[in-house]
Amino acid sequence: MDIWILPVFLPCLVGAIDLYVPELPVIGMLDKDVILPCWFNPSDGFSLQNLSVFWKLPNQQQVYGFVLGQNQLDNQHPYFRNRTGLFHEELSKGNMSLLLQGIRPTDEGTYICFVNIHNSSIASLSLQVGASFSKPTLHLEPSEGLKPGDQVTVTCHTYNGYPEADIQWQNGEGKNMTENITTSQVANEEGLFHVQSSLSVILETSDTYSCLVYNPVLQEVTHASLTVTGQHLSFPPVALWVTIGLCFCLLCLLVALACVCRKQLKQTCEEEQAEAGNEEQEENGELKTAMQPLKVSSAGEDEDATYLE
Ligand SMILES: *[C@@H]1O[C@H](CO)[C@@H](O)[C@H](O)[C@H]1NC(C)=O
Ligand SMILES: *[C@@H]1O[C@H](CO)[C@@H](O)[C@H](O)[C@H]1NC(C)=O
Ligand SMILES: *[C@@H]1O[C@H](CO)[C@@H](O)[C@H](O)[C@H]1NC(C)=O
Ligand SMILES: *[C@@H]1O[C@H](CO)[C@@H](O)[C@H](O)[C@H]1NC(C)=O
Ligand SMILES: *[C@@H]1O[C@H](CO)[C@@H](O)[C@H](O)[C@H]1NC(C)=O
Ligand SMILES: *[C@@H]1O[C@H](CO)[C@@H](O)[C@H](O)[C@H]1NC(C)=O
Repeated sequence: MDIWILPVFLPCLVGAIDLYVPELPVIGMLDKDVILPCWFNPSDGFSLQNLSVFWKLPNQQQVYGFVLGQNQLDNQHPYFRNRTGLFHEELSKGNMSLLLQGIRPTDEGTYICFVNIHNSSIASLSLQVGASFSKPTLHLEPSEGLKPGDQVTVTCHTYNGYPEADIQWQNGEGKNMTENITTSQVANEEGLFHVQSSLSVILETSDTYSCLVYNPVLQEVTHASLTVTGQHLSFPPVALWVTIGLCFCLLCLLVALACVCRKQLKQTCEEEQAEAGNEEQEENGELKTAMQPLKVSSAGEDEDATYLE
């Protein structure tokens, strides 16, 4: 069976009944419900009893069956069980739109709408699944001890989006940095993508790197930025020279202080020494003076003694 992609709600020219389906893909959000539209303009005297509707995949797997006014789900593929339905009150108006619940990435693809009321017609439409990517997280490698001119890698991670993202990088001035990146997109067991993109750059004094994650189906952008600041850098050159200058000044100051101290220390030492000498002399003088009277007195005693004898 051929698959027909038709213009926006233009009648299908294959078969006797004009069938209307959207030309552009229908977008279904992950885990949400979606309606796949398909309808015809019923002629007068149309009876539900004479209507049969089938929704199928291109590989003939049955998504939904409705035969001569009754649901007919014996041949429904188990993948679609309890997830699909027609709007029964709409059928008499020629509206055969299909409800598909709990959208999964694997639901993406072409769906065929088939109708029979004496004559039959067939049309197809496509379903695209979309899931928003998480807000990216950015890492800088290496993250410290950096100097301007160093080569660094900025890595951007974003999760659980569908389909694959378009990754772009920008610097602080909005310049496109998408040249030097490596990006990997890996699907998890649910089919959702984990994206890792690495930008390799030569570091400037302070710059901002932005990772933009574009979802082409949802036409949605999520982004994050990382700014390399002093916290990552060891010594930007200006700071280095200022630091060296300050160190030199400090050293001079210390040397000067040391000289002054030494001079003063020497002076105090001499003074102390001098003072200590004086004290000794004074002590000796006292001793002498203290001894002299003794001598005198003893001499006097001696004299006295000689006198007494
Ligand atoms: C559609 O069916 C009617 C009668 O059931 C028939 O007269 C008509 O020719 C059919 N049209 C086509 C295009 O087969
Ligand atoms: C519907 O089909 C039955 C036979 O199955 C026929 O008798 C009846 O006339 C048809 N109704 C219309 C509106 O075509
Ligand atoms: C569908 O729902 C019925 C009743 O709720 C349940 O018994 C059945 O297991 C379900 N089938 C699937 C494939 O989930
Ligand atoms: C068909 O039915 C669905 C569900 O009620 C509705 O959303 C849609 O607008 C209907 N389409 C037409 C063309 O009436
Ligand atoms: C990409 O890398 C090359 C060499 O490593 C460099 O010359 C060029 O400027 C880089 N492009 C961007 C946009 O950074
Ligand atoms: C940025 O550059 C990349 C690769 O050179 C290109 O594919 C992309 O379209 C550019 N993006 C913008 C916004 O210019």
